[in-house]
Amino acid sequence: MAKEVLSCRSLSKIYRTAAGEVTAIEDITLDIFPAEMTAIMGPSGSGKTTLLSMMGGLERPTAGEILVEGTPLERRFPDLSEYRRQEVGFVFQSYNLLPHLTALENVLLPMELAGVPRRDRRERARKLLSAVGIGEDRYHHRPTRLSGGEQQRVALARALANEPPILLADEPTGNLDSETSRQVIGLIHGMARQMGICVVVVTHNPAIAGEADRVVSLNYGLIESDQRKDGDKPAEVKEG
Ligand SMILES: Nc1ncnc2c1ncn2[C@@H]1O[C@H](COP(=O)(O)OP(=O)(O)OP(=O)(O)O)[C@@H](O)[C@H]1O
Ligand SMILES: [Mg+2]
Repeated sequence: MAKEVLSCRSLSKIYRTAAGEVTAIEDITLDIFPAEMTAIMGPSGSGKTTLLSMMGGLERPTAGEILVEGTPLERRFPDLSEYRRQEVGFVFQSYNLLPHLTALENVLLPMELAGVPRRDRRERARKLLSAVGIGEDRYHHRPTRLSGGEQQRVALARALANEPPILLADEPTGNLDSETSRQVIGLIHGMARQMGICVVVVTHNPAIAGEADRVVSLNYGLIESDQRKDGDKPAEVKEG
């Protein structure tokens, strides 16, 4: 099996609120591998978003650490925004496209911010939009003139614009009908395989989890089960 890209080591997250402490994630150890799609499932409040946020450098763990290709995240990226910009693509439930930009401009923007040369930006955006099934007739539409499925596909193209090794999606199909959900998930899965990306998808939908190579179930901030479709052992159980 390919070497893990992301490793969570004894990760915990405790939120301190006026009402007291909430343990959202408790001592989770988990390796995430390239070219596959891992689904995270679990009841509301079980810690799925919190875990994803730590993987994506949006939240810092209270204890434990995240390794990126074997190096502690914060040593490799003292500036976490650099990690988020270079290494991670994010897709959320609400598409979060910039409303005043067209579909094409939404995909071009992250490349502009990353300093990709203008010519390459156009070409890459066209390739990505075509890969997610957005035709040229939609390029100059703003998000309000796109359907939910189209918006989510543009959001996926945008998340992949800088060719990140990691794609994190939090209920990316939460607002879509079941057929459109299947299409979007199929695309995400295909991209994971083709581009060798580590994909982690949080979902409540068993049909979507069924598409994943691996399903990790959380409950009360703990891993309740970790199953691979191919029947392999859970990834963190290594021999030798
Ligand atoms: N910023 C925060 N401050 C305080 N508590 C929080 C915060 N974010 C999450 N929590 C708490 O941490 C726990 C885990 O929340 P989290 O959002 O990770 O759950 P989830 O599995 O994503 O749930 P859902 O399926 O409803 O999205 C919950 O008890 C939640 O109330
Ligand atoms: Mg959540």
